[in-house]
Amino acid sequence: MTADSRRLRVGLLFGGRSGEHEVSIRSALSVLEAIDREKYEVVPIGITREGRWLIATDPRQLIAGGAVAGQGTMVAVVPEPGDRKLTTVDATAGRAVGQVDVVFPLLHGPYGEDGTVQGLLELANVPYVGAGVLGSACGMDKGVMKRLFQAANLPVLDWVAIRKVDWRRDPAGTIRELADRLGYPNFVKPANLGSSVGISKVRHPDEFHDALELAFSYDIKVVVERAAIDCREVECAVLGNDEPVASVVGELVPRREFYDYTAKYVSNDTDLYIPADLPEPVGTRVQALAVAAFQAVECAGLGRVDFFVQRDTGAISVNEINTLPGFTSISMYPKLWEASGIGYRELIDRLIQLAFERHAERSALRIS
Ligand SMILES: Nc1ncnc2c1ncn2[C@@H]1O[C@H](COP(=O)(O)OP(=O)(O)O)[C@@H](O)[C@H]1O
Ligand SMILES: [Mg+2]
Repeated sequence: MTADSRRLRVGLLFGGRSGEHEVSIRSALSVLEAIDREKYEVVPIGITREGRWLIATDPRQLIAGGAVAGQGTMVAVVPEPGDRKLTTVDATAGRAVGQVDVVFPLLHGPYGEDGTVQGLLELANVPYVGAGVLGSACGMDKGVMKRLFQAANLPVLDWVAIRKVDWRRDPAGTIRELADRLGYPNFVKPANLGSSVGISKVRHPDEFHDALELAFSYDIKVVVERAAIDCREVECAVLGNDEPVASVVGELVPRREFYDYTAKYVSNDTDLYIPADLPEPVGTRVQALAVAAFQAVECAGLGRVDFFVQRDTGAISVNEINTLPGFTSISMYPKLWEASGIGYRELIDRLIQLAFERHAERSALRIS
């Protein structure tokens, strides 16, 4: 048997139709560098901003100017549910160009982290890393996510969801109701997005209108939430399927007003502290809540749960779960596991194993 026939072929999906296109590329390049080549052969699949899937032998061929745009063969995927592999077909020539045994969707935000790609992979009956359709979709929609957290008795900040039709019908009344219920400052967020895109901190009634208009330019549903005041932002990584475990807790300290898009991807001046310097009971509680939040949205594989911790009282609220968190070697999720004793290469390996385990378990179910 040749070395190659023993290696598993991992389809690495990156880029994609989202604001986090570049971050996804950076995550993919990190994984490509670190993955165990003795065990895995990587098939890079770049998705352009328009949604075209491209493959090439060298991933760098696919990337031009920080985006998936370069040379490559445009492929389509064909659901062949019997063979448990993903078959890619040259979209122009119409012939199969390759098969992969497992997919690692390193895509963030809509059309990647939201269950859409996961649905495609389910149809193809191929194992894939991370949450399934339901967990991905529930983790993406901040309104649904918060309801599930509340149903599981997890502490969240008071919030309200508003639909665009209602906003259009009565802007002044909507603002009045929101202000009465939530006060100032508060945060206005598009329900289904990430990377802080479209999010505003509203400190004053005058700012409400523009904040809502901005958020509604990204989504037809918007979540408005009471601001966490005098809080620290801490994050905890979760790994596993049916028996998920939590990493040490990390803290991020943005130098800006909040952890906005610029702080995340432009200025790179947010300080990370791993592990966070928290009183022991608070850290332990955060870890327990992280696992509970992961389970509340039916997550699988990996998830990063983000919290606010009140400086003086230590009171904790869950902010959100990210079902496909940033995954470069220096991103919070891998760093938290590194500090918990699982290095980056081993983490990739575990995630792929978890993908196979979940697929095997589901494949064993009766379907009629
Ligand atoms: N209720 C809140 N109180 C204080 N800060 C918040 C609140 N909601 C969001 N933020 C700030 O905005 C950032 C982005 O919000 P988040 O809900 O995490 O959206 P995203 O999914 O885009 O990351 C947070 O990391 C935090 O700095
Ligand atoms: Mg966030």
